[in-house]
Amino acid sequence: MTAPGPTDDRPRLLMVMPYRQFVRKARAEGFWVGAIWDPRLESPEYLDDVRALADLFVSVDFQDPELLRRTLREVAREHRATVIYHIGREETMVTAHEVAEELHAELNPAAAIRFLADKHAMRDLLARRGISPVSFEATPTRREVPEAVERIGYPAVVKPTALAGSRGVFLWQDARDRTAWTALVDQYGYDGPFLVEEYLRGPEYSVETLSRDGRHQVVGITEKLLGPPPLFVEVGHVHPAPLPQDRRRAVEELTTEFLTACGYRFGPAHTEVIWTARGPRVVESQARLGGDRIPRLVELATGLDIERAIFAALADRPAEPVEPTATAIVRFFTFPPGRVGEIHGLERAARLGHVDELSLRLRPGDTVPEVRDSKSRHGHVIVLGSSPKEAQARCAEVLAAIEVVIDDRPVRADGRAEALGTPV
Ligand SMILES: Nc1ncnc2c1ncn2[C@@H]1O[C@H](COP(=O)(O)OP(=O)(O)O)[C@@H](O)[C@H]1O
Ligand SMILES: [Mg+2]
Repeated sequence: MTAPGPTDDRPRLLMVMPYRQFVRKARAEGFWVGAIWDPRLESPEYLDDVRALADLFVSVDFQDPELLRRTLREVAREHRATVIYHIGREETMVTAHEVAEELHAELNPAAAIRFLADKHAMRDLLARRGISPVSFEATPTRREVPEAVERIGYPAVVKPTALAGSRGVFLWQDARDRTAWTALVDQYGYDGPFLVEEYLRGPEYSVETLSRDGRHQVVGITEKLLGPPPLFVEVGHVHPAPLPQDRRRAVEELTTEFLTACGYRFGPAHTEVIWTARGPRVVESQARLGGDRIPRLVELATGLDIERAIFAALADRPAEPVEPTATAIVRFFTFPPGRVGEIHGLERAARLGHVDELSLRLRPGDTVPEVRDSKSRHGHVIVLGSSPKEAQARCAEVLAAIEVVIDDRPVRADGRAEALGTPV
């Protein structure tokens, strides 16, 4: 690709690992879009799509931060990028924002991204500011974890400071859980650092926000449905969360106060909050959109295309007000271990009204993979209803309709499901 010609006056946006839809939507908002990707992170077919959509496509090894830095600098200079942006996976976000800052092409201070990408830095910041107090201890390796758990007290939550997707997050209920925890961290081959936190008891929510100029618009709050302990793997989400007005306001206020404390200025954030007996507490936050199909739930429930809204904000177009008119639910399938036989009811479930997406990753003959984090779940369904109650009833109907024979025993998709979110 060559440098821009004199006639192309589009604002020039260079993105690190932009997903297909980001490239499409940024271009629809009038941007020239350059994409920098690590070919290991997506399939060749996916990256061919990105390449076809983008104005420029560059491959680089993200595991070499110096190479990524150099490439970003060179590409940004050659193609006169005015903004360098990254709303993909956390691992390379700080590096991208540091280069952006160096070239005066940043949308957020790198320091703000550091607070959001590093759970320990975030807890330190909140402790200093007296926001959302949570007892915690950081340990450099796994060896110090058992003693830190003793000091924090049971039950405690132990989590890798630098993994995501619920990988390795464990509820340590008493001293005997040490064996199970050791086996879990062994599976991930992760040695540290860890964060040990007091267990925050209560329903969990996530808050989607869009910031510009340091002001944070709350797009909506989602209720999170968790699978069984000691892991914290999500089995579903309900949007908007059925929450009384005063709680909703308290969750919104904590989230915006938190983002301001981090120095976050532009773009989406996904902040997780638990409502405890002592009020709302921040679990963590990410400088990107929520995963788990949450942007799709927002779109179904409110009509807002939050992905497009990011680029509309970047193009300085006024924000749209967001008003939910329906409830959308995603449920993930988690089947017990064993060998998959016949699968029944999938087509019938897909034909039920108000099913927006349905996918099952199991095939006859497969061995059911153990669900230990969000990546290993077995598929999902998204349903829509005019009220939380209706959405829940429809969701239950779909789950009841799908049956997988595992080790010659029929198991329905709702077999291991926890109770759905409680409507208020
Ligand atoms: N201190 C805590 N108390 C209660 N639950 C927690 C705590 N920390 C984490 N969790 C649970 O574990 C999940 C994953 O932890 P989180 O810090 O969000 O890591 P990840 O980066 O894997 O998403 C949270 O969404 C929440 O359900
Ligand atoms: Mg999380």
